[in-house]
Amino acid sequence: MAILKIARMGHPVLARLAAPVADPADPAVAQLVADMIETMEAAGGAGLAAPQVHVSLRVVVFHVPAGRNEGEAVPLTVLINPVVEVLDDGRETAYEGCLSLPGLTGAVPRFTAVRYRGLGRDGEPVERTARGFHARVVQHECDHLDGVLYPARMPDLATFGFVEEMRRALPGPG
Ligand code: NI
Repeated sequence: MAILKIARMGHPVLARLAAPVADPADPAVAQLVADMIETMEAAGGAGLAAPQVHVSLRVVVFHVPAGRNEGEAVPLTVLINPVVEVLDDGRETAYEGCLSLPGLTGAVPRFTAVRYRGLGRDGEPVERTARGFHARVVQHECDHLDGVLYPARMPDLATFGFVEEMRRALPGPG
């Protein structure tokens, strides 16, 4: 296992359409997944997509702590060749961050309900419906596979900025 270097916005690998994984049983894919999980955990992120570690393949990992998702935790999930289907037109806007834009945040509208499927860590099929923050994380990570970073989804760039500065601008303690 290894902690991998994370590409930052501007690196061409983040703008590329990632290729499907041809052989999900390839041990090199298992190695990539293990390294992505270790890298995500070391960086304290909720999710990570393979292009963020300079590998242009359709692989994402994520987990959702209970505190972020109305009490419903989502265990560590691996998706190889994921497909996301929007379940209804409803969207909600919330602040997002990304390990490829360290220190920054911005308000991004996302579909509130999606269904996703892909292959899991052991090659088993995964299919789930997701709402709220869970749905948001899946959309954010899968966007990486299509070369899309969250600022491209922001209708109002006035909400884009450094977390430290924006915290300072908020009223109250802290
Ligand atoms: Ni990201």
